[in-house]
Amino acid sequence: MATTIPSSCLQDIYRAAEAKEHADSTSETPGNGVVKLHVGDPYFDPPEEVAEAFTDAVRRGETKYSGVEGLPALREALVEKLHTDNGLDTEVSRVLVSPGSCQGLAALLQSLAAPGAEILLPELHWPVHLQQSLLAGLRPVFYPLGPDFLPDPEALAAAAGPRTRILLLNSPANPTGAVMDAALTRTLLDLARANGWQVISDEAYEHYVFDGEHLSVASLERNVPVAERIVHSTFSFSKSVAMTGYRLGYVAAATEEAADALKVVQEASIIGTSTPAQYAGIAAIRSRAGIAELNRKRVRANRDAVLPQLVEEGLLSRLPAGGWYALADIGRTGMDAETFATRLLDATGVAVVAGNGFAWHPRLDGTGSIESSRYAPWARHLIRIAFCVEPEALDRGVRLFLDFVRDHAVE
Ligand SMILES: Cc1ncc(COP(=O)(O)O)c(C=O)c1O
Repeated sequence: MATTIPSSCLQDIYRAAEAKEHADSTSETPGNGVVKLHVGDPYFDPPEEVAEAFTDAVRRGETKYSGVEGLPALREALVEKLHTDNGLDTEVSRVLVSPGSCQGLAALLQSLAAPGAEILLPELHWPVHLQQSLLAGLRPVFYPLGPDFLPDPEALAAAAGPRTRILLLNSPANPTGAVMDAALTRTLLDLARANGWQVISDEAYEHYVFDGEHLSVASLERNVPVAERIVHSTFSFSKSVAMTGYRLGYVAAATEEAADALKVVQEASIIGTSTPAQYAGIAAIRSRAGIAELNRKRVRANRDAVLPQLVEEGLLSRLPAGGWYALADIGRTGMDAETFATRLLDATGVAVVAGNGFAWHPRLDGTGSIESSRYAPWARHLIRIAFCVEPEALDRGVRLFLDFVRDHAVE
């Protein structure tokens, strides 16, 4: 199956940006380098105590395997965090550490449903959610988004079928920046419960809500008996604490049964998560309140300082309510998103992601193989811009982007 799945739009531009950077640095007339508005990697670092906890762990020799579920001390700290910050009622037995939330998601998808089951994904989604679903043998069904890129419960219910088993929610969302409110979240959870679906809630950007508040979907199940719960949540240290390269995330499974199944997948996939990274995680959890708030302010300041130009220019209907990305519409250039991203990088050194890649909607045949590949036509002029980067780089990159759009406008 892996050979039939194309690499994502994220990888394509990542490689192109690296090639451009390399060419510039070895050229006799070096350019100005690449302005990286394509990757969700922040300009800030984790605090000193996180780095110290990591190196101290290495020096103490805490470099052995740490068990498939993760270090007990970290899991206990996570239970406390999930309880106080997210309103979850969970226990150590249902919290598993993973090498990044990305791997936790992949493991969940492998353990929650048998191959052939359908998974509901947003029509604009993080490409990795789709890749993971396909690799787990699941059949993706794309649910429509309504105004402000929010899930439309009626349309979502209409997209589902008798083989649907999983609903994937992602708020704040990548790539749209949409943030679901409590009423919508409850409606979707009720819908999932009524239809017997499991819910995966990807909360990697939980600390980056600028308008409204983050609500953990699983907090709405506090009063449901554990064995009857359906919400499995994934969280990350990458975004909140800027620990992208440490590779640390965690899963809060809904039930003991789901946690046990997850342990089997994890044993077979990873054996365990890096031990020093987990010590760094314990330090990060201790000082998270201050860090996460500071980081949220940093990204919000970027959003408020630079993105209004895109709104004024009519390329963005409103500022993203959360997350690290904005989806701009470059339809007036007449170029499709991939051509635009390639030409922008060549001409200005600004790297952005072609948004049609977030709307790749493959069709599968009866055996689960990809039968036909198509990108939703309505996404062909969308461009994703990451605004978690250095303020000066963001400012420069968006100016160059806007100049390029103006210079190439055909309408
Ligand atoms: C929506 C979403 N979920 C999960 C992740 C994975 O993060 P990590 O594996 O670094 O925890 C990302 C990374 O960009 C993301 O955008």
